[in-house]
Amino acid sequence: MKPKAVAISRQKTHRLIRQDDKIAAFEPARRLTAYGVLQAKPTRQTGICAMTSPIIDFLLARTSVPIQDLKEPAPNDTEIATMITAAVRVPDHGRLAPWRFILYRGEARVEIGQKLAALAEERNGPMPEGRRNQELTRFSRAPLVIGVVSSAKDHPKIPQWEMLLSGGMAAMNLILAANALGYGTNMITNWYSDMPEGRAILGLAPDERVIGFIHVGSYDGQVQDRPRPDPATLYGDYTGPWQG
Ligand SMILES: Cc1cc2nc3c(=O)[nH]c(=O)nc-3n(C[C@H](O)[C@H](O)[C@H](O)COP(=O)(O)O)c2cc1C
Repeated sequence: MKPKAVAISRQKTHRLIRQDDKIAAFEPARRLTAYGVLQAKPTRQTGICAMTSPIIDFLLARTSVPIQDLKEPAPNDTEIATMITAAVRVPDHGRLAPWRFILYRGEARVEIGQKLAALAEERNGPMPEGRRNQELTRFSRAPLVIGVVSSAKDHPKIPQWEMLLSGGMAAMNLILAANALGYGTNMITNWYSDMPEGRAILGLAPDERVIGFIHVGSYDGQVQDRPRPDPATLYGDYTGPWQG
């Protein structure tokens, strides 16, 4: 049977995380204890951690928000700096920092839309008005878009695919930090990420790749979840080498 989509409120979780400024000023380890993370206990019934930790609640409720529902206000400069600080705190083999972040906000989002629409027309010929509007508004639906860019480097020992994965982790940390600050997010790549001309419009160098464009904004706290994979079917103990 297809799992039923459910509406969930994450406002409570955000409130819990933000509830005590005193806790926020604690050292990281003490802060985690204060929030209850270290008290989370597996339950016999479910096998997953009891909901004593707002951070576990927060992770288990994560969802993207449709881009059209992301509105002003966007995160301010201090919040953006916090999000990027969380984003760069990721595993990074060789400490290469093989990523960077581009902020698209204000009028720049509209100009990008015009350039993407022109590129789309160059590729596909004249577009119907609805399709043209779709291209024109690619970057101006949410008040802020953050491009997570992989700037993988040549290295004698560390393969570039590891650097790409590190970039994916940076994107996820950025998303979670934005969500923890109360903002909705949605990361997409879309056709222009797969084309050198599209990447150039968006400010990437020829040897850089798109990890994702994270659309960020405020939303009403309600979001329609989608069916999730059953985790129980996705893990198990090691049973020896692959037999084919
Ligand atoms: C690398 C990557 C690229 C994605 N690109 C697109 C995209 O171009 N268009 C799209 O509709 N969703 C895209 N998605 C999916 C959305 O980010 C999102 O995961 C999806 O809407 C489901 O929402 P959820 O995050 O709540 O699972 C992409 C996801 C990933 C991980």
